[in-house]
Amino acid sequence: VKSRGVLIAGNWKMNHGLVETREFFRLLRETGPSLDAIEKLRSARLRAWAFPPMTSLQVAEAEIQNLVFPFRIGAQNVHWEKSGAFTGEISGPMLTELGLGRALTGHSERRQYFGETNETVRKRTESLLKQDFQVILCVGETKAEREAGKTFAIVEEQLRVALGIVETSVSPIAEYLDGRLIIAYEPVWAIGTGLTATPAQAEEAHAMIRDFLTKRLGPAVAAKTPVLYGGSVTPENADALLACENIDGALVGGASLKAKGFISLLEAGARALG
Ligand code: 13P
Repeated sequence: VKSRGVLIAGNWKMNHGLVETREFFRLLRETGPSLDAIEKLRSARLRAWAFPPMTSLQVAEAEIQNLVFPFRIGAQNVHWEKSGAFTGEISGPMLTELGLGRALTGHSERRQYFGETNETVRKRTESLLKQDFQVILCVGETKAEREAGKTFAIVEEQLRVALGIVETSVSPIAEYLDGRLIIAYEPVWAIGTGLTATPAQAEEAHAMIRDFLTKRLGPAVAAKTPVLYGGSVTPENADALLACENIDGALVGGASLKAKGFISLLEAGARALG
């Protein structure tokens, strides 16, 4: 039983300008997922989200109004301050004005190429949660870290700092999360490489993350916090991953770009719900 439902989230990264975004939603509207998936989307047991690049957010938000099932849009990167001299950044209130209330934080590409640290991930995550956003906080180890047996230590440190946890305390932000925090476990070596984690590897990490959340957020808040898997998820491997007890959905890059692929992922999500 998936007590937290199943969430399929597409991270489009730096893909899909206005024309391609419109085309994606046109095809999604015209083809649509199975009636079973639509029914589960309508009951919110299955959730469909996409994270387009900044310039496509407004058109994506307009396009989803034409779908016959709920679909939500979010931003890939948001600053912790509400306004100011931060060239190249956008803020929570700017997204709220567009009707958007979702964002990613801590994606490994932000960490790898744009100097994001656990501390800046904490600032973005905390600020967005305080502004009532739903946040997908991404964590995951590199290949070298896995090979050195450091997977759990790295992921725990990423979660601990991002959630403002000092020593062995409970997270100070736990009290106002209310189901709005989502964790994505994305092993860096699996992102965009085709080297998907095996269901056993993913489940092992997810079980560790769930255990951590139960201790550091408290059982009630942790029970409402989904943990998604990300890293070379495709329609072909989604069923096996989503069948794992502690995997509550997927954060998908490449395979989420085409409407056909997104639809197949939603249908896999519906099957996982039984
Ligand atoms: P891929 O699905 O393309 O491997 O990307 C995963 C990812 O980084 C999602 O955030």
